Formats: sequence, structure tokens, C-alpha cells
Amino acid sequence: MQAVEHVLKSDFLTQGPKVPEFETALARYFGTKHAVCCSSGTAALHIAYASLGATQSSIAIVPAITFAATANAFRYLGSRVIFCDVIAETGHICVIHLEKILSALPKLKKDQKGFIAPVSFAGVTAPLERCNQLASRYNFQVIEDASHAVGAWTHAENGKEKIYSGSCTHSQASCLSFHPVKHLCCGEGGAVLTNSSKVANTARKLRSHGIERPFDDDHHTPWYYQQVDLGWNYRMTDLQAALGISQLSRIEDSLESRKKIAQKYTQLLSSEKFSGSISLPAYSDGHAWHLFIIRFLHQGMRNRAYKYLKSKHIHTQVHYIPVYKHPYYQSIHGDLCLSGSEDYFEGCLSIPIYPGLTLKQQNQVVEEVGNFVALEK
Ligand SMILES: Cc1ncc(COP(=O)(O)O)c(C=O)c1O
Repeated sequence: MQAVEHVLKSDFLTQGPKVPEFETALARYFGTKHAVCCSSGTAALHIAYASLGATQSSIAIVPAITFAATANAFRYLGSRVIFCDVIAETGHICVIHLEKILSALPKLKKDQKGFIAPVSFAGVTAPLERCNQLASRYNFQVIEDASHAVGAWTHAENGKEKIYSGSCTHSQASCLSFHPVKHLCCGEGGAVLTNSSKVANTARKLRSHGIERPFDDDHHTPWYYQQVDLGWNYRMTDLQAALGISQLSRIEDSLESRKKIAQKYTQLLSSEKFSGSISLPAYSDGHAWHLFIIRFLHQGMRNRAYKYLKSKHIHTQVHYIPVYKHPYYQSIHGDLCLSGSEDYFEGCLSIPIYPGLTLKQQNQVVEEVGNFVALEK
């Protein structure tokens, strides 16, 4: 609040010094050369895809389980979206299906671009290394949707290094969302991370109408600018950036709180009374615990659990309806049905996890899940 108030009393509410300051802090945190802030995660995806050359002739492979924005931003550019199935137990992109899709596609034509947009879903780093290997083989590019995964990492296939979400080690760009439910909250906001100066410069240009200022301020026409491309107004305000800087400085505490909550849930929900009724997310040190998704193992149980918990004032959520089931995508893809995504969707329920969740509240959630499971037996 102090940081935001400071901006409110300053000369710049937008296009001031806080946005580049936040960008420098983000690039340092993620270990990338560049960070380009913008007005939302969706805007970040849109300008990242556009900066990497997505157009009407492009093909974009997107996991079926994600927030629709991962696919929508390709549609804004007229690209063809192909949905890839996920692993039923985790909701993460299935690399076997990905390879199947890639191998069945005709070879990309000259000037045609192909993209894979793996989502580091729920706080788990997507199989970026594998996606990147496949992308290289088929001449595709990888853009990670890292909206859920600030602070997440996984082991490299060689078992030595850690691969961090957002680091662009195995992607041409990564995108973040700063929506309030995410690890870093700016009210609304997003960022493109990349190691490519060309991509960063294009993304900067596109977030502000496609405008370039070709001369520095000492030039005799410092007022001069030119619109060289058709961009958007996707700028982040200094108010949002100030909030982001403040949040980023406390990210380790926030990750630690989420981890403790996840450990407690894992311990409590592993008790005998839940077995055969629910499965738990696999615990790992590199999990950033954006979501804690339990899966109900019997048909219809998830919907009944949602209702039961709501009646006990426990608000849960479903992440996500397979994107191809939305009427907009049905109008394009017909009655597509991917078995892993359908299985995952049938059982998934996200139970509350956020840094301010108290132990008492957590115990209450577990108790009510237990009461529900007992009722079902
Ligand atoms: C995986 C994923 N991608 C993209 C977005 C879009 O982000 P925003 O809401 O900031 O536009 C979200 C937000 O919910 C998301 O969860």
C-alpha cells in the first residue's frame, strides 16, 4: 500500500520509472535477459506470440487443460490451435500425444511458423526440455505459459541442473500473469520473459500501439515517434508495477507459506479414510503450489463434493474445463474428446491454498472433505 501510495503522489501514474524497475527485478529473479511488463497475462501471451511471428498461417499446439487465454491469444492472431491431451493424473501436457500430433502434421511450409505452448500447470514446471527437443525436431518454437509457476523448477533430464519455470532455458519466451490469485499480484498485469533482444523489442513495441521512438531525447525532434506496426495498448501502469516490485521482494516467504500448506494437506489427506476416494498431487520440492488439486476417483463425486463443501462455506474451484469444450472452440473443433483431459476433468477439484490460509481453516477443509467422503461410502 505504501509503494502504491508513493506512486500516486509521484509525477507518473503510467509510463514512469516503476515499470522498467519491475522489469529489471523480474529479469533478475528469472535469470532472463529481458522482461516486458504489460496489462495482463493474456496480453503477455498475445504480444509474445505476435513477437515470435504467429500469424494466420501458424499452427499452435496448446494443452487442453489450461485457462482459455493460452489458446485464445493464438486465435487473436488467426493461428490454428490444435489441442494436445494431458496426463489424466496431473493435468499436464502429454508429450506422447504431443509427438503424435507433430509427427502427423505436414512439414511446415516456408515462412509458416509452428508453436508449442506448454503450461506449467498448478505450480509444476511443464516438461519444457522434452517439448523443446520435439520443437527443434519439427522446427517449432516453445512459449511457456508460466502464469501458475513463479518459483517452480524441475530437474533436467541429465539429473544435474534445475530448470526453472520462466527462465527460458527451453523456450523462446515465457509468460506470466499477475492476476490476484497468482503468486505475484498487481491487480491485473503480466510479463513476457525472453533471452532474445529481438523478441523483447518487438513485444515492447506491440504493447504500446506498435510505436517506436527512433531517436534519443537529445535529438532535435525529441517529440518524434512513429507507428511502425499495428499494436495495442497493453501497457502496465506504475501503480501496478509498484505493487509487483513489493510482491516480488516477498516472493520467497509467499512460496514457503504455500509449501507448508501443501505439506500439511499432503500429510492430513494421506490418512486411511481418504484412500480409494481421492488422489493427491505428487509432492515435489520444485512445486510452487499455485493450486492444490485433489482428484475424486469415482464418477460424479467431484460435482457432489463441490456442492457439499460450498454448503459448508468452503469455496473450491475446477481448474479447468477442457478448453475444447467451450462453445467457441466447439464451433471450430466439433465434438473433440481427448481421453486424458476428460478423465482429469471428471475428478479434479482445487481446494483452498493461499499464504493467508490458517491451520484452523486447513483443518476445517480436511475435516469437511473427510465428512463428504464418509457420506459417499
Ligand atoms: C494458465 C493461465 N494462462 C493465462 C492466464 C491469463 O492471465 P490474465 O488473467 O492475467 O490475463 C491465466 C489466468 O488465469 C492462466 O491461469
